[in-house]
Amino acid sequence: MMETFGASVTASPSIETESGRAILSQHPDSNGSLGIAISEAVEVAAKDPDTKYALGSVLNHVLLHQTIIGLETIEQMALADDEPDIIVGCTGGGSNFAGLVMPYIGRNIKGRSHARVIAVEPAACPSLTKGRFTYDFGDTGHLTPLVKMHTLGSTFMPPGIHAGGLRYHGMAPLVSHVMDLGLIEATAIQQLDAFAAGIQFARAEGIIPAPESNHAIAGAIREALVAKEEGKQKTILFGLSGHGHFDMQSYIAYQAGQLENYDYPAEEVAMALAGLPSLG
Ligand SMILES: Cc1ncc(COP(=O)(O)O)c(C=O)c1O
Repeated sequence: MMETFGASVTASPSIETESGRAILSQHPDSNGSLGIAISEAVEVAAKDPDTKYALGSVLNHVLLHQTIIGLETIEQMALADDEPDIIVGCTGGGSNFAGLVMPYIGRNIKGRSHARVIAVEPAACPSLTKGRFTYDFGDTGHLTPLVKMHTLGSTFMPPGIHAGGLRYHGMAPLVSHVMDLGLIEATAIQQLDAFAAGIQFARAEGIIPAPESNHAIAGAIREALVAKEEGKQKTILFGLSGHGHFDMQSYIAYQAGQLENYDYPAEEVAMALAGLPSLG
């Protein structure tokens, strides 16, 4: 689609950057990851005075821009004369989640709402539920400044789940901070459960969600089932972060029974965490 409009697109890891070549020399079959793609993009921007790089997630100013989602949602919920009891979003770098929930966390702190806020991440890349809250690099090639965040270690290579936007080793500093303060909860979902939830949602609503969003849907369904079990009425708000029209190959693979769950890669995370930068 981008090339249709004149861009030239190179898949990461590529042989066009030092960071990409370094990864490929060690892992010739690398699936790539957001951490590697960020290294390559930062390197290109740093070497070319005509090139600027705008990060699409993780950094706090990106989260701030996304809060338009939560601010609009508050207005829409007012029109519906309702308040969410539970708010759910999927977390890769944290931007769609923060955009939806941060305005509500503000209301919670001021005592104007009492919503439980739940971040849903993939079981294969569980930075909030299994990561450490410490300083780490935002990219695999260690070109970015250090950021205090929940991290699995910047060299951790997430398994090849089909929610590519959730395959990031860290979490936005602000999302990590509100997690540390106990203002949000986090849970992890396996990819088969995520796709099953996405298909259930598509059949009910006529919208095929992105694999990333399927994680939020699975989290919302999980909470709805708990409420049903308890015989309680709950208003559950979740973020549908994107459509799945670019992800048909993943849906084809899921329908053909070719997708698998991944166990939490504890050993690989331990290795990556052992390589965390030491701070003076
Ligand atoms: C549809 C969709 N949802 C969620 C994400 C996760 O990113 P973030 O956590 O920054 O919202 C991505 C990332 O590419 C995405 O494409």
